[in-house]
Amino acid sequence: MSDDPVLHTVTLVTEEDEIRVTTDGSLTILQAMHEAGLPVRKACRNGVCGLCKCRVLAGGFTYHWKQPHGLWQRDIDRGCILPCIAHATSDIRLDEILFESEQESNNP
Ligand code: FES
Repeated sequence: MSDDPVLHTVTLVTEEDEIRVTTDGSLTILQAMHEAGLPVRKACRNGVCGLCKCRVLAGGFTYHWKQPHGLWQRDIDRGCILPCIAHATSDIRLDEILFESEQESNNP
């Protein structure tokens, strides 16, 4: 059996495009997006504020021992997750990703 990490593709569906990021699941989905240079909206990075919320179209993830306190039940019912505490367990497709605006990213 190989010790090579299993890689998963995180596909972000935006209005104009689809963006793909590869992760081995050791990083959260948000960390993988951030390392790829994507200006994903985030604040607490701990599953509390809900700012990073997005929706899963297909694929698997785990929060491990963490709880998505930043989601309402209606969000969960719509398939929303918090990528700041979620790790991909398979290839996964996400939408409703919110990116920082130019103005937000220029402010300290
Ligand atoms: S950044 Fe706050 S819940 Fe994800």
